[in-house]
Amino acid sequence: MGKCPDCGEWNTLVEEKESGWSSRPGMSGKKPGGRSQPIPLTEVKGEEGRRTSSGIGEFDRVLGGGLVAGSLVLIGGDPGIGKSTLLLQAAAGLGGSVLYVSGEESPEQIKIRAERMGIQSHEVMLLPETSIESVIDIASGMTPGAVVVDSVQTVYSSELQSAQGSVGQVRECAARMMYYAKTSGVPVFLIGHVTKEGAIAGPRVLEHIVDTVLYFEGDRGHPYRILRAVKNRFGSTNEIGVFEMSDSGLVEIENPSELFLSERPKGVSGSVVAASIEGTRPLLVEIQALVSSTNFGVPRRTSIGFDFQRVNLLVAVLEKLGGLQLGGMDIFTNVVGGLKLVEPAVDLAVVLAISSSLKEVPVDVDVLVFGEVGLNGEIRAVSQAETRLKEASKIGFKRAIVPRSNHDRFREKFDMNIFPVSNVTEALRAAGL
Ligand code: TYD
Ligand code: MG
Repeated sequence: MGKCPDCGEWNTLVEEKESGWSSRPGMSGKKPGGRSQPIPLTEVKGEEGRRTSSGIGEFDRVLGGGLVAGSLVLIGGDPGIGKSTLLLQAAAGLGGSVLYVSGEESPEQIKIRAERMGIQSHEVMLLPETSIESVIDIASGMTPGAVVVDSVQTVYSSELQSAQGSVGQVRECAARMMYYAKTSGVPVFLIGHVTKEGAIAGPRVLEHIVDTVLYFEGDRGHPYRILRAVKNRFGSTNEIGVFEMSDSGLVEIENPSELFLSERPKGVSGSVVAASIEGTRPLLVEIQALVSSTNFGVPRRTSIGFDFQRVNLLVAVLEKLGGLQLGGMDIFTNVVGGLKLVEPAVDLAVVLAISSSLKEVPVDVDVLVFGEVGLNGEIRAVSQAETRLKEASKIGFKRAIVPRSNHDRFREKFDMNIFPVSNVTEALRAAGL
């Protein structure tokens, strides 16, 4: 059937194989076909001793401190963002033998990439193969230190009729690799392209199957790439790793704040530095706004790197409670460096950047800002305020505008002038706007 008789949509039916692999292997002490036995919690062996380093610090951090034996890690991202590059680099850094299965590129193509990156490892074994049965067969025969499947959309199982890259195939192949990883203890990486249709047959349909989901993000026009954990059974989520795509592979960036602020113009209006937290890591980023009068009837509002709806909300707060006239204005906001921020803690910086641009008054370069803005113009506390201030002080910021409720709870002393504010009007005044 091409059309689902239930919801009436076309091409939504997915082929599934009855029973077999999908019965969540490795979730208990169960042998295939055997019966599970209850195990006392205290007798279950911990995973900690079984972590190996990929040789890339930022990658290890996102994995939760290294690669766990027998784990299944999904790396998703747009085509061309650098997933194959990252994993080739990690494969060479892992130390042991790594089976690199490629259904996308020939060994010659991978060799060209490796040469470009200066990787010369005879322990990276390339396998151009798309049949999942053969992959598992070969992997079982050589017990490598890790397996990379590049990409999960190019492998298929001959037991399903549906086409390569379809939801059914992608799920089946992932379930097979999960079974292989859990029974052999070999960690497996699956690369998944985010498809145009978004959810369909892309990495999202696998998120519940795998142990760890990492997304490799970035703007193609920028060299910066961010590796973000969105699910991790072996570590904290929302941890990020920052890389720069150079002409010889990915380079780790240990001090992203310095990098993101390095090109900041001085003494211009519409630029404010916000302190954001990604996972456990503070990140200082420049927020820019450009406000100009509208030439055509309806004002344009555009936001890059920050939720558009949220900008609209902040504009409304500024109009109503900050007394700004923004009705006939085009407003553009941008997070510099191609970053995407989701944290409400950058609200205050957006508000100040917009006001600064409208009034054409620059905010001093040594001022750092964070705080969530509520609909009544109140500035609300954010998490990990002290971590944010520590980072700012390290980079040389001299002043900070922070939520009053955070300020009242500070335990540490900072070598900065701190201005606690409780509403938008106070914040505008503190910033000299
Ligand atoms: P790739 O890893 O092939 O992306 P994916 O597997 O996610 O599709 O990397 C693609 C881009 O990275 C490609 O456009 C070229 C660029 N690149 C560099 O800039 N420097 C390098 O050293 C390498 C290997 C790639
Ligand atoms: Mg690739």
